[in-house]
Amino acid sequence: MPNEEMKPSIIARHVSKTYGAGASQIQALKDIYMTAFENELLMIVGPSGCGKTTLLSVIAGTLRFEEGEVVVLNQSLNGLTDDELTCFRRENIGFIFQQYHLIKTLTALENVIIPLLLNQISWSNGEFDVLDVLEKVGLGGRESSLPSQLSGGQQQRLAIARAIVHKPKLVICDEPTSALDAATGIAVLEILKKISKMPGRTVIVVTHDSRIFKFADRIYQMDDGRIINCVTNHEDLIES
Ligand SMILES: Nc1ncnc2c1ncn2[C@@H]1O[C@H](COP(=O)(O)OP(=O)(O)OP(=O)(O)O)[C@@H](O)[C@H]1O
Ligand SMILES: [Mg+2]
Repeated sequence: MPNEEMKPSIIARHVSKTYGAGASQIQALKDIYMTAFENELLMIVGPSGCGKTTLLSVIAGTLRFEEGEVVVLNQSLNGLTDDELTCFRRENIGFIFQQYHLIKTLTALENVIIPLLLNQISWSNGEFDVLDVLEKVGLGGRESSLPSQLSGGQQQRLAIARAIVHKPKLVICDEPTSALDAATGIAVLEILKKISKMPGRTVIVVTHDSRIFKFADRIYQMDDGRIINCVTNHEDLIES
């Protein structure tokens, strides 16, 4: 469990988010309080439609919310303009989307270089080695492939490489293992766990995949827009 020495990297207080209006209104987040700490691999689990992706999007600053406050890396997201949010996200957050969002007309190598270009980092800089990152996710030798020439699992690993290449303080992953076989899924979690233990870094993973629960330092369990449980041992999750 968190102790006083742990530094919070994300604090969400009293956050609510509603989609749509009138009769079709859906309250996707209901009064959420959550914290993530530096050097933590935090998982968020819960049934389909309970609000996991919505919560990740709010934390990552890609989705506005009506109520509450979100503070990421000591910066309150509430008062930032869209442009300020974009800059903040570009520098500090690597996001692995549930739907990958790879750029179809660019090669694997080019897709991974994008965050470096956006942050004006030279991709041949020894500290940010694109080829090494591709190798680490098991895509060595596939630098020139287009996403359409890669399998679903390989595309997922490419999305992971793109999210970690610029060494963001916060890596946020929405179902990072959904298209991966057991061995590759474990290998990806080993990479994410290692990243979470580097100075100043935090990793958040949304997942349904019980094979990877054991990598979590802490797990928030959601249901119907609320956080209903927080455990350090996945065996203590409430059965649904
Ligand atoms: N853009 C949107 N417009 C309207 N409703 C939405 C939108 N995005 C999500 N929702 C609704 O909000 C609720 C939460 O959705 P969300 O995508 O956050 O769930 P989830 O937990 O990520 O589900 P899954 O495990 O299937 O990915 C669902 O009822 C969903 O239908
Ligand atoms: Mg989702």
